[in-house]
Amino acid sequence: MSTVHVFDHPLIQHKLSIMRDEKTGPKEFRELLTEISTLMAFEVTRDLPLKTVTVKTPICETQTNKIAGKKLAIVPILRAGLGMVDGIRALVPTAKVGHIGLYRDPKTLEPVEYYCKLPSDAEEREILLVDPMLATGGSSSAAIGFIKKRGCKNIKLVSLIAAPEGIERVQKDHPDVDIFVAHVDEKLNEHGYIVPGLGDAGDRLFGTK
Ligand code: PRP
Ligand code: URA
Repeated sequence: MSTVHVFDHPLIQHKLSIMRDEKTGPKEFRELLTEISTLMAFEVTRDLPLKTVTVKTPICETQTNKIAGKKLAIVPILRAGLGMVDGIRALVPTAKVGHIGLYRDPKTLEPVEYYCKLPSDAEEREILLVDPMLATGGSSSAAIGFIKKRGCKNIKLVSLIAAPEGIERVQKDHPDVDIFVAHVDEKLNEHGYIVPGLGDAGDRLFGTK
């Protein structure tokens, strides 16, 4: 079974509370999501493998560490996942970015795919799949399925808010994928929205409502 990492850092919880407030507009919402994504990225990348390298400082030669291998790819689920990319890239500027286009059918709540473009060497990279909302888990589970079909084995799911139902679904479908969230909320309502949640993340990010 995968591990669920919940970030209870005061800065993250404070910023998330402002994001939840219905009076917070798209500009501040976007900025806060970027800031939280940077803070989360620090912990999400904690286990990246290192290799020893030799560096000549102005004083002497020394053995020190750099990140080994092909590093990361960040894969946002469109649209709302886009809001987490810049915050993570602030810490890992060389990460490649893939995109998966999915929307949730409002009647069936099932994910519908409309786009998928991953880096050509995605299978050699650790994949950070990002989407602020893990509700039923249908979108994230389907996206992980697409990524696995491309040969990727090392995948982490990074979300802002999760419902217990979404965590359960992803853990059942993909027990090898660790989940990182800022908060686990209470439940889903009858429309599949997270309660208390923050509403529709894509609409609030892009001002489409
Ligand atoms: C939202 C959200 C997730 C999905 C979560 O996207 O960003 O992708 O719903 O729901 P689930 O866990 O029940 O699948 P939405 O489908 O509203 O598309 P959008 O980002 O384009 O608004
Ligand atoms: N998608 C969102 O944007 N918000 C929810 O609460 C559930 C799905």
